[in-house]
Amino acid sequence: MSADASAGQAAPAKANPNGPTEETVLSVEHYTDRLFRFRTTRPQSFRFRSGEFVMIGLPKEDGKPLLRAYSVASPAWDEELEFYSIKVPDGPLTSRLQKIQPGDKVLLGRKPTGTLVLDALTPGKRLYMFSTGTGFAPFASLVRDPDTYERYEQVIVTHTCRDVAELTYSRTLIDSLTSDPLVGEMVEGKLTLYTSTTREHHERMGRITTLIENGKLFADLGVPRLDPATDRAMICGSMEMIQDVKALMIQAGLTEGSNAAPAEFVIEKAFAG
Ligand code: A2P
Repeated sequence: MSADASAGQAAPAKANPNGPTEETVLSVEHYTDRLFRFRTTRPQSFRFRSGEFVMIGLPKEDGKPLLRAYSVASPAWDEELEFYSIKVPDGPLTSRLQKIQPGDKVLLGRKPTGTLVLDALTPGKRLYMFSTGTGFAPFASLVRDPDTYERYEQVIVTHTCRDVAELTYSRTLIDSLTSDPLVGEMVEGKLTLYTSTTREHHERMGRITTLIENGKLFADLGVPRLDPATDRAMICGSMEMIQDVKALMIQAGLTEGSNAAPAEFVIEKAFAG
């Protein structure tokens, strides 16, 4: 330390070691007037498991940050971070977040967490990931993680949205995986995306709950109905969707798991704000 620096000057204010870090927006893609994704820098110290969520936000004029929970949509190995977001016109955060541009700063919490992780499930043969709307985000992470394919023989991702345009993110992403250098060969013959719409005409229509109950999901996929001996499931969507799909899992004999007590299915609310 130089003599000048120690000459009775106050130490510079230290950044809060537990507070969010400031990350740079690298790209933004808008899918519909309700949905977009963005990618940001990732600090080297930021560790997470594919499927977890973290607080994301923007600084507020009064200095207090405005943060909301977001699933990380990129896999754990990725050097960047990806997020998939709804745009709520009067949402305190998303009304502003939807305007971000490359080069802008966003705040990133330091403590990712969550139950939609492979470690919260007991081993099985087939993994279902049931999602609606932005509930696809944690699965966008898990389908890009080689660990998913090392643990399961078959991976079935279901995504149900109001209209066809809202399926763009999941469809584009899953399509791109066959040429992915890391998981390209692993997804072949193992990974299936099963989409449906509920409000716009589409080749397949209906809520996922209906498609499970009437057996169409299993008939279309050519697999047996849910069986706790072979099947594992992750559920992410609105509170109502989770409750309804969860009831069907319990009815099929599957038990809910957690990080502390892994079992046959796990749930997480899709975040919005
Ligand atoms: P629906 O159009 O019949 O409400 P949202 O964009 O509102 O989050 O909805 C995403 C998708 O989730 C929609 O297709 C919606 O169907 C469906 N959905 C809403 N509630 C449930 C539920 N309780 N169980 C299953 N699917 C649901």
